Amino acid sequence: MNKCFKEVLFTSEQIQSRISELAIDIKKDYENCEKEPVFVGVLKGCLPFYSDLITKIDMDMVVEYIEASSWNGGTESTGMVTIKRGIEYDIENRDVLIVEDIIDSGITLVKIIEYIKTLNPKSIKVVTLLDKPSGRDENVNLVVDYNGFIVPDAFLIGYGLDYKEIYRNVNEIGIIKDELI
Ligand code: IMP
Ligand code: MG
Repeated sequence: MNKCFKEVLFTSEQIQSRISELAIDIKKDYENCEKEPVFVGVLKGCLPFYSDLITKIDMDMVVEYIEASSWNGGTESTGMVTIKRGIEYDIENRDVLIVEDIIDSGITLVKIIEYIKTLNPKSIKVVTLLDKPSGRDENVNLVVDYNGFIVPDAFLIGYGLDYKEIYRNVNEIGIIKDELI
C-alpha cells in the first residue's frame, strides 16, 4: 500500500474492471449517434480515468477538455467555481459526455453544465468515476448518468485525485492519512 493512504478503497484492478463495465455501457449508448460524441474531461482530476476510459471504448469520438476550479488546494470546496479553460471544439448540436473524477457537493458540475448549455449541444450526459452523495449541496439537483463507485464521506486521493496537487499519479484510490493534512 502506498504510504499516503490510511485505507485503500479501490485497487488498480478494481478500478480498471469497473471502467471496462462503464465503457461497455457508454459505447452501447453512443455508438449510433449521428455525429461522433464529444467527450469532455474535467481537468486535472479526470486525467487517468479519462485516458483509461476512452481507450476502452472502440468507437470514433472527439477528445476535448475543460478546466474548472472550485478548490483552494485544501480538503474543503470553496463553492466558488471558475471555468479556467473552456471548450474550443464546436459542440453545437453534438452529443456531449462530461467525464469527471469525483462529484462531492456537485457545485462544480452544475457550473460546467451551465457553461456547456450555452454552447447549444444536442445532449449532455455525465460519467463520474466516484460519487460522494453525502457531500451533495442541498441546492444541487444532479442526474449522474454513469457512476463508477459510491464513496464514503472522507477525503480521497489517488488516480487523479490530489491533495495540494500531489498523489494524482498513484494508481489506487484511498483515504488520505491524517498526518498528511
Ligand atoms: P464539488 O464541486 O464539491 O462536487 O467538487 C468537485 C471537485 O472537487 C472534484 O472534481 C475534485 O477535483 C474535487 N474533490 C472532491 N472531493 C475530493 C476528494 O475527496 N479528494 C480530492 N479531490 C476532491
Ligand atoms: Mg476535479
